[in-house]
Amino acid sequence: MTETLIETETGSAEETVALGRTLAGQFHPPCLVLLEGELGSGKTTLAKGIVAGLGAAREEDVTSPSFTLVHEYAGREKVYHLDLYRIEGARDIATLGLDDLLEDQATVIIEWADRLGRRLPGPHVRIRLEHRDGDRRRITVERDRG
Ligand SMILES: Nc1ncnc2c1ncn2[C@@H]1O[C@H](COP(=O)(O)OP(=O)(O)OP(=O)(O)O)[C@@H](O)[C@H]1O
Ligand SMILES: [Mg+2]
Repeated sequence: MTETLIETETGSAEETVALGRTLAGQFHPPCLVLLEGELGSGKTTLAKGIVAGLGAAREEDVTSPSFTLVHEYAGREKVYHLDLYRIEGARDIATLGLDDLLEDQATVIIEWADRLGRRLPGPHVRIRLEHRDGDRRRITVERDRG
């Protein structure tokens, strides 16, 4: 069952970070957060707000995990931040060990989650980001109870 939590537009990166901080208050680990949207749509920017809002790291310490595949942040809460942009296929996805990460009572944030295809482990939050004019982004947040 899918439920839309938020449909909104932000007008700057700062507003998107602020939205991430607000959303973090609604996430209760273990929690899987899927970020979808084209290059530069603001996935990492939103992740900064989520990670900071969870008290896992400072906003400025959250960077794109595109080369290392996964960043781990541990503070008040634990967060794994993944980027699947360079992932090659189903076999690579299996090696991510998503279930193990979630078992760690963590929030798992995945950029380019569309790469996961239909193989989704249980309940998750799906966030879609789309370019609008200039710095505007349309952001839709859905919860799927799995
Ligand atoms: N409303 C907005 N929300 C988010 N980012 C914005 C917004 N307006 C402008 N930006 C800018 O757009 C860029 C978004 O980059 P970001 O790395 O967050 O995107 P991404 O979706 O993670 O890209 P990639 O697909 O390369 O991982 C940043 O330079 C940010 O400052
Ligand atoms: Mg990114």
